[in-house]
Amino acid sequence: MLVYFVTDEPAKLPAIRAMLEPQHAVVPWVLDGDGTGVRAHGVLMVDVDLRQMPRADQLRPILNELAAMPERLFVVPAHARSMIAQAYALGATAVISRAKEAMPKIAQIEFAEAAAESAASDPALEMDAGVAAFATMFSNVRHGRPLKVADAQRATTQIVKRVGQGGLSTWLDEVRRYHEGTFQHCLLVTGVAVAFALDVGFSSTDVSRLGMAATLHDIGKARIPLSILDKPGRLDPDEEEIIRRHPAIGHDLLKGMSGITPEILDGVRHHHEYLDGSGYPDGLKGGQISDLVRLLTISDIFAALVESRAYRPPMAREAAYEILRGMEGKLEGALVRAFRSVALGS
Ligand SMILES: [Fe+2]
Ligand SMILES: [Fe+2]
Repeated sequence: MLVYFVTDEPAKLPAIRAMLEPQHAVVPWVLDGDGTGVRAHGVLMVDVDLRQMPRADQLRPILNELAAMPERLFVVPAHARSMIAQAYALGATAVISRAKEAMPKIAQIEFAEAAAESAASDPALEMDAGVAAFATMFSNVRHGRPLKVADAQRATTQIVKRVGQGGLSTWLDEVRRYHEGTFQHCLLVTGVAVAFALDVGFSSTDVSRLGMAATLHDIGKARIPLSILDKPGRLDPDEEEIIRRHPAIGHDLLKGMSGITPEILDGVRHHHEYLDGSGYPDGLKGGQISDLVRLLTISDIFAALVESRAYRPPMAREAAYEILRGMEGKLEGALVRAFRSVALGS
């Protein structure tokens, strides 16, 4: 794999080369030095002291030139936490605290790409290809490239198949391996929603419809800064306001695309609405909220509670279900009761 290594200190190059070569080809780009011919494939790795404003200014045009790179890894020393927000503002897709951590990260990216390529010939890799299709879709939207509905369909089909065959518990265990927050969340919500739909006896068309709505429900978050999405702990009111825009952003992204049905649009826009009218963005009430959306909302809340995040352990499924039971008036009681066997895995 090609690794474009952008740095302000040429002295860092030999160590990076020693670590990544010969498995990967390192293409250096030193600030103040000459650039390089830009190719479309590979990973961008940036190790620049962003606390120095002129450095960030020098870096910007280089990043613009390398805008086609979907993966941008920034090295931010653990003692320089103020650089993290700066890195994300410059378009980082992941931040690592030492150059050493680049190796597993690059291997992960390479694996996802290889899985997507070889899936057609190797059915054992099918699931990873579904996950990879989902990752590609999210990354495209984050970088302002067009969203392909086929990627969402591919991911959904694989999840329906996997949950149908192996059950929800296996799926939850598998998905928790993925550390990126929104990514893990969307895969979990889809697994939970599909298990719910299968449990209540939906037709296969309806299972797929709900699955697609779940796969795409938080796609609007791809346009929310990672510094807000991945912030550990509480958001301030301004950040809260920004994150609440994601259902409308997702709806606008998907509107008018072929393969996107009105039910999917409804799910994307309204999965944060509550029966008592206290939800957002449209403050819908009772009968204005469709059955598909009601199922999606329950799946979304449950998945958010049981997902594993770096800063807190996953909640037990029993405790998560109790929280849903406590949301009487907001969620449909009969549906929450129907969800019990899915939630508890019984
Ligand atoms: Fe959401
Ligand atoms: Fe969500």
